[in-house]
Amino acid sequence: MKEYKDYSLLNHNTFGMDVCAKRYVEYDSEEELKALIPTLDGEVLHIGGGSNLLFKGNFEGTVLHSAICGIEEQTLSSPSLQGGSEIPTNEQGNSLSSVGETGKGSVLVRVGAGEVWDDFVAWAVAHGLGGVENLSLIPGEVGASAVQNIGAYGVEAKDVIAMVEAVDLQSGEKRIFAPQECDYAYRQSIFKKQLKGRYAITYVTYRLQRKPQLKLDYGNLRAVLTNQSTVNCQLSILQVRQAIIDIRNAKLPDPTVQGNAGSFFMNPVVSREKFLSLQKDYPQMPFYEVEGGVKIPAGWMIDQCGWKGKSLGRAGVYDKQALVLVNLGGATSEEIITLCNTICKDVHDKFGIDIHPEVNLI
Ligand code: EPU
Repeated sequence: MKEYKDYSLLNHNTFGMDVCAKRYVEYDSEEELKALIPTLDGEVLHIGGGSNLLFKGNFEGTVLHSAICGIEEQTLSSPSLQGGSEIPTNEQGNSLSSVGETGKGSVLVRVGAGEVWDDFVAWAVAHGLGGVENLSLIPGEVGASAVQNIGAYGVEAKDVIAMVEAVDLQSGEKRIFAPQECDYAYRQSIFKKQLKGRYAITYVTYRLQRKPQLKLDYGNLRAVLTNQSTVNCQLSILQVRQAIIDIRNAKLPDPTVQGNAGSFFMNPVVSREKFLSLQKDYPQMPFYEVEGGVKIPAGWMIDQCGWKGKSLGRAGVYDKQALVLVNLGGATSEEIITLCNTICKDVHDKFGIDIHPEVNLI
């Protein structure tokens, strides 16, 4: 366990905000976490890789960070799993040693919340296990994947999450969440809503496939891969991973070079009626049909408002992807928030649509 007072969070937020935490604790195990819970007073913030938050100033409470590591393929041992039945649900104290291969060509892999997300993806691909290759290079850690329901290129974390283990930060009790208890939706989960701040995720178990089913129908992914692949050669998850890494590198800024938190805004969902009326004015507008309406890419709208590559003070809109706000060097959170609010107003004035940050403002 590591513990510091008045600790700089500069290396713990990809936006590069030079702010401090009054107390910072990094724990290595569930036992350490449970032991430190009675010592927590005041505000508590649990962070992962700090890739989806913007600090408005110093944090006057305790910042927690998990260093629980390990990636473990589960072995076949539970009678409840024989014949491909579902994994056990949320009985308190349910042991993960009872979770094993499901018998449907899928494998359960239990990962510590403090593992770097992309290290897990690389591990899965190296072991020939499919399901997360489309989520390659998403910044952050495994615990956050289950909070944020990270997603990219037609796959979301919820598609592969089989179980979430967490510790109640009030009582210190362990709880196991079945995926249906996590209320997953686009970039949403119970851990961001009703249970916000209540649980620290310690392990996530993912269901991966021994015979991967590639998902290539999002955006230009198939086209990029078709150009690369040789005739008659079946695509592998390694090729998919590499293509996604190339696409992401081409249009998303590297936070070690220029501070940013990936997509700053969520893509809004509007009613079909609203969409049809907008489409009359903007026939070239990209869109995705989703449950409950039509999703319009916020990046496209921001681009249409003329913001791509522009800046306000030291806060900028990335010139290759307008959904991403960047720290041009020494930007304050006020500068980023002013840019965010100005963009939201312009999008509202032009399209009559409210867009909202995906990034958590702390
Ligand atoms: N577009 C523009 N101009 C721009 C940006 C986008 O015209 O400046 C257009 C694109 O041409 C495309 C559409 O908008 O037709 C959508 O853009 P893109 O496919 O790049 O995806 P996105 O909707 O901007 C989402 C996720 C990304 C994820 C990509 C790929 C959200 C908020 N963002 O972006 O996630 O990588 O899809 O699946 O849903 C992240 O969360 O940090 C993130 C990068």
